[in-house]
Amino acid sequence: MFELDLETIDISTQAPAADPERQYYFIAKCREFITEEALKRGRVFTYHNETFGCQMNFKDSEKLNGVLEAIGFVPREDEKADLVLYNTCTVRENANTKVYGRIGYLGKLKKSNPDMIIAMCGCMMQEPTAVEKIKKSYHFVDLIFGTHNIFKLAELLWCVLEERRLQRIDKNQKHRMVIDVWKDTNEIIEELPSSRKYSFKAGVNIMFGCNNFCTYCIVPYVRGRERSRKPEDIINEIRNMVSQGVKEVMLLGQNVNSYGKTLDSPVSFAELLRMVDDVEGIERIRFMTSHPKDLSDDLIEVMRTSKHICRHIHLPLQSGSTRLLKAMNRHYTKEDYLKLVDKMRAAIPDIAITTDIIVGFPGETEEDFEETLTVCRDVCFDSAFTFIYSKRTGTPAAAMPDQVPEKVTSERFNRLLEVVGSCSSKRAEMLTGRTVPVLVEELDREEGLLTGRLENNLLVHFKGGEELLGSIVNVSLRECKNFYYIGEQV
Ligand code: 5AD
Ligand code: SF4
Repeated sequence: MFELDLETIDISTQAPAADPERQYYFIAKCREFITEEALKRGRVFTYHNETFGCQMNFKDSEKLNGVLEAIGFVPREDEKADLVLYNTCTVRENANTKVYGRIGYLGKLKKSNPDMIIAMCGCMMQEPTAVEKIKKSYHFVDLIFGTHNIFKLAELLWCVLEERRLQRIDKNQKHRMVIDVWKDTNEIIEELPSSRKYSFKAGVNIMFGCNNFCTYCIVPYVRGRERSRKPEDIINEIRNMVSQGVKEVMLLGQNVNSYGKTLDSPVSFAELLRMVDDVEGIERIRFMTSHPKDLSDDLIEVMRTSKHICRHIHLPLQSGSTRLLKAMNRHYTKEDYLKLVDKMRAAIPDIAITTDIIVGFPGETEEDFEETLTVCRDVCFDSAFTFIYSKRTGTPAAAMPDQVPEKVTSERFNRLLEVVGSCSSKRAEMLTGRTVPVLVEELDREEGLLTGRLENNLLVHFKGGEELLGSIVNVSLRECKNFYYIGEQV
């Protein structure tokens, strides 16, 4: 049974309940309750989901929203909703700070609407210190769960509703937070509802977790060990999506290049890509993230010969200094990275290469940083996400000597931005005048302007109507505005 204490019900130690039947049972129970309450109050019940962080979290949120909508909640843009859910990130310290600020704001809203349900989930909730802080300073939060049991949302929500019922019966009953955070899991649960943001493109998890333990990174601690979904489950999901009108899929994993190693009958990422490429009706395939140490020749060959894989690869460099790459536990040298880029460009000349770079890793000297700048200039990335190193408690780098002072990092960061910015515009400019296929993703009704995405992930704005949304059309890139284009449909 539940382990109870005064302020919280911590059910984290309960046996996992990764059974879709069980979750559909709780979806039905919550739905019954919400429908009855909605009828009584003469209005619908709303939810607001705020998602922080990466593509993984956004994908998880589609699953969370799917469950909430199956229960009967209707989405709402702002936080004045009956249920507010924050799907948090913790990859850098400022992500946590942002969340605490927002929970404080939710506390104020709850004062004027005590019935409001406040729920927190995602990576930050996998950190015991974050949960302790919320228990201590934000006791009005109703529900906390982590990354390993998002499928359990309906069951957890039912616990919260039961708590509310007990409080109504016994006025002396204090508010208790429901907490369910698992340390790790091997479970992969299929077949739960999902509410996709776009009808024509979708993320598809192919694996969960990470085994790389880059020394700066908290992800392996909060997302657990690497585990891959079975290829047949992935292909079935994609077939289903395509039958519902999806044109583009983004295969998601922390390190897609090591896909399949944990399966009973191992399948490589390149083999999986071949299977996805063969799905009838698929038009575009993307994937992220690729770790340079695991990028195989076979993968390059599949990308070269495929009809549907976008000629784009996101290949985090992190640093251009071999000494720092070693300290980061990245398992490649500067030379390995440059060779890989040459190999890919030789095989696929128009491939777009994007990257992640960290500035100010402990012990980074001016020479190390200069090497990063040199690699950036040599490769000339199509775009780069640049990060100032953030110390994450519990990671090996947090305990390393020679943490770089903020003044030095911010100065280096600005220099890096200049280099990557000028390379990106140079690369973008090279396509001006060409006619390329784009997936039409957004429409600005007032301006009559469509936004389409190129294979290289850049955007083009061009005149057109609603009927083109979700289709792939040819657009001539008339003018380059550094990071996007102005174009015309041809
Ligand atoms: N500090 C700064 N950047 C980080 N990243 C991961 N951990 C940290 C950290 N502690 C960056 C890496 C990774 C991207 C998703 O986030 O560049 O590729
Ligand atoms: Fe973090 Fe490295 Fe895993 Fe990426 S590969 S999630 S940077 S540990």
